[in-house]
Amino acid sequence: MTNNVATAVAFARENKGRFVEELKALLRIPSISTDPERVGDVRRAAEFVAAELKRIGMGNVRLIETTIPEEVIAGASGEARMVRARIGHPLVYADWLHAAPAADGKAKPTVLCYGHYDVQPAEPLDEWKSPPFEPTERDGNIYARGAVDDKGQMWMHVKALESLMVAGGGTLPVNVRVIVEGEEEVGGEGIAAFVREHGEELKADVALVSDTEMFAPELPTLCVGLRGMIYTEIEARGARTDLHSGMYGGAAPNPFVALAQVIAKLKDENGKILIPGFYDKVQKPSADELKAWKALPFDEEHYRETEVGSVALTGEPGLSVLERTWARPTLDVHGMPGGFIGAGAKTVIPAKAVAKVSMRLVPDMTPAESFAKYKAYVESICPKGIRLEVRLIHAGDPIVVSTDNSYVRAATAAMHEVFGKETVFVRGGGSIPIVGDFVRELKIPTVMMGFGLPDDNLHAPNEKFHLANFYRGIESIVRFLSGVGA
Ligand code: BES
Ligand code: MN
Ligand code: MN
Repeated sequence: MTNNVATAVAFARENKGRFVEELKALLRIPSISTDPERVGDVRRAAEFVAAELKRIGMGNVRLIETTIPEEVIAGASGEARMVRARIGHPLVYADWLHAAPAADGKAKPTVLCYGHYDVQPAEPLDEWKSPPFEPTERDGNIYARGAVDDKGQMWMHVKALESLMVAGGGTLPVNVRVIVEGEEEVGGEGIAAFVREHGEELKADVALVSDTEMFAPELPTLCVGLRGMIYTEIEARGARTDLHSGMYGGAAPNPFVALAQVIAKLKDENGKILIPGFYDKVQKPSADELKAWKALPFDEEHYRETEVGSVALTGEPGLSVLERTWARPTLDVHGMPGGFIGAGAKTVIPAKAVAKVSMRLVPDMTPAESFAKYKAYVESICPKGIRLEVRLIHAGDPIVVSTDNSYVRAATAAMHEVFGKETVFVRGGGSIPIVGDFVRELKIPTVMMGFGLPDDNLHAPNEKFHLANFYRGIESIVRFLSGVGA
């Protein structure tokens, strides 16, 4: 057994170069899940992953088509429909469930390995030093859209499985199911529906997710909480059609000005969200958690300068940055499509404008209740002459996972062997919608063992994955899976 671990680790080390070349091939596929023109590329990425799972000896490898139900979230103000026509990108499934029972006859646990093969759009393209879908190595990093979020991290799972498979002569030390989704970046509705309807097909004892970050370089990290979110659009309509702003300015309502007025009433200068009742269910982190966060190596000024790059940080006074980004809800505007955005000037009062607004949620807020409060409030502050439509694009629950179980202990032990350090426990400000469903629907603990770095530029130009962490990730996962099977 121990021998097999050593053999698997040696195999992974010997094959580093090939692993990276394979990852590059996957990174060349622009699997942007939100872009309807990339449907074919998204599927190609799914097929690429499936082919490799088959090649390394996993069984029951298949693409699972997803259907996204027209979901209705009932709220205080009536019903809000998920309105966006969503393309169901396929899931990739594989398993290997033949682990030999322990000496006492007890069956080995089953680990559910989760990742996503879809990526965010790459714009703004002119800010990339090398093109987003031409993976390039520089200074020990691999640069490409999806390098760390999440193709690179998902590939760690596949390569850890391959290494164990070779070391075990076609066997694994634990039972493993693999589920890789292609819609995480657009809300993960497809996998959520699959888990709800076919949960028994993913029956496992623990989920392993590698889609989060390390708190600092060299610091092994487990993420134990994620924020949830509701992603919305507010559409404002004024005049019947676009109008000459000289002829009608002064009499015709302007949907952009109206949206600006609405947005200004959503959040104040102190970062407080002004939606009535929005904070009602917010739970304060435990005293232990807050104490642990204080002990983390965090320099606010360094963070402002190197990660954020703004002249000042914003948010609720009196709360630390970590508390603000991990344990408090927030509201952001992502873009305001509509009107004239070409070069030069055009004097027009647009007939309509849209604001894309999302809110991050923390335990025990729920997407349905939060959306209902938001929608009712926005409608109540609708400026004169404007009709507003508030739409929900996607939603996901906040989650905090348990740390008191043997799987978390196996994870920290595995990472200790690789990094020679104690693991820190953090939360993440981002969202991975399916993790909540693993806990609630499958009723299994989740281990979020991620190997990104704070400056890996997720969702931004020049996304990268530090190759040393790609290798350490593979080794950690090899050791984790062996540990769970031991
Ligand atoms: N991997 C991220 C989430 C993440 C990043 C968690 C860093 C913790 C630390 C994931 O791919 C992501 O970006 N999720 C989206 C979800 C949304 C579109 C539903 C997000 O958080 O914006
Ligand atoms: Mn991700
Ligand atoms: Mn992402």
